[in-house]
Amino acid sequence: MEKNESKILIFGGTGYIGSYMVKASIKLGHPTYVFSRPNSNKIEIINELQSMGAIIVRGKIDEHDKLVSLLREVDVVISALPYPQVFDQLKILEAIKVAGNIKKKKKVRRAIEAANIPYTFVSANCCGAYFVNYLLQPSEQKEEITVYGTGEAKAVLNYEDDVGIFTIKVATDPRTCNRVVIYRPTANIISQNELISMWENKKGKTFNKVHVSEEEMATLSETLPYPQNIPISIMHSIFIKGVTTNFDLGENEIEASALYPDLNLTTIDELLDIFLHDPPKPA
Ligand SMILES: NC(=O)c1ccc[n+]([C@@H]2O[C@H](COP(=O)([O-])OP(=O)(O)OC[C@H]3O[C@@H](n4cnc5c(N)ncnc54)[C@H](OP(=O)(O)O)[C@@H]3O)[C@@H](O)[C@H]2O)c1
Repeated sequence: MEKNESKILIFGGTGYIGSYMVKASIKLGHPTYVFSRPNSNKIEIINELQSMGAIIVRGKIDEHDKLVSLLREVDVVISALPYPQVFDQLKILEAIKVAGNIKKKKKVRRAIEAANIPYTFVSANCCGAYFVNYLLQPSEQKEEITVYGTGEAKAVLNYEDDVGIFTIKVATDPRTCNRVVIYRPTANIISQNELISMWENKKGKTFNKVHVSEEEMATLSETLPYPQNIPISIMHSIFIKGVTTNFDLGENEIEASALYPDLNLTTIDELLDIFLHDPPKPA
């Protein structure tokens, strides 16, 4: 490990996406801290991350003084907390302002911009393994696959290992300071129909397609109670509206793979091969 590597603190580091970031941070040689609640039930992953070299700090987000002294030890803060905790991140922000030394923090956008703390916002798009599990349900051995809308809208699927590596790289890269980084490598853009056809070729079989119409999805996202309405709303945004691909990058936005052209990213074809031979578990 090099002495000058930034020290990185990750909130939510024991979680689905956070654990990829912790592993990437360790792999890239950063002293890596994970903030985890005292009553966390993530024993297995905590032990795994600790054995890889992560420093686990037990605490609660509202323990202000503890947060401030921890923040004084690190250079970069990454938040991968789950959606219901989105506003708890403001408590982290308050502690960062008091600590005064943080070089980078992500998320809770306007509050961070207003706080004058250097930041990078990232838009990771669809986590590849997460969405392959959701869309194709490879572990279920079913004969049918659900197609949302016509199946033609294009989406970006990035394998979680690459999301982890991108996130640590952009968090410590001066070129991304106070900018938005979007993970949208051209090779990772695919429609549901293309994904299904690729999977059928690999499996050597044809699946029955069950279509859920745009109208049905819109109705469900408006009528289901919170939080059951979240998955269908996300599917509607991505696979009907095409929100991950239907816009050009703005002036303050950078595409991640353009920053690191030498990174060997996992293609969707390779991701499906992983699912054939050693399928990642559904989240
Ligand atoms: N783009 C995509 O495809 C994609 C896919 C999955 C997730 N996401 C996003 O990634 C973010 C993280 O989601 P995730 O599924 O990785 O999170 P998660 O696994 O549900 O939770 C992450 C960690 O947060 C901590 N935590 C859980 N509940 C908490 C609470 N009530 N108070 C404080 N800490 C709590 C837990 O750590 P401890 O137990 O150690 O405290 C947990 O391991 C979310 O914004 C989610 O929407 C995106």
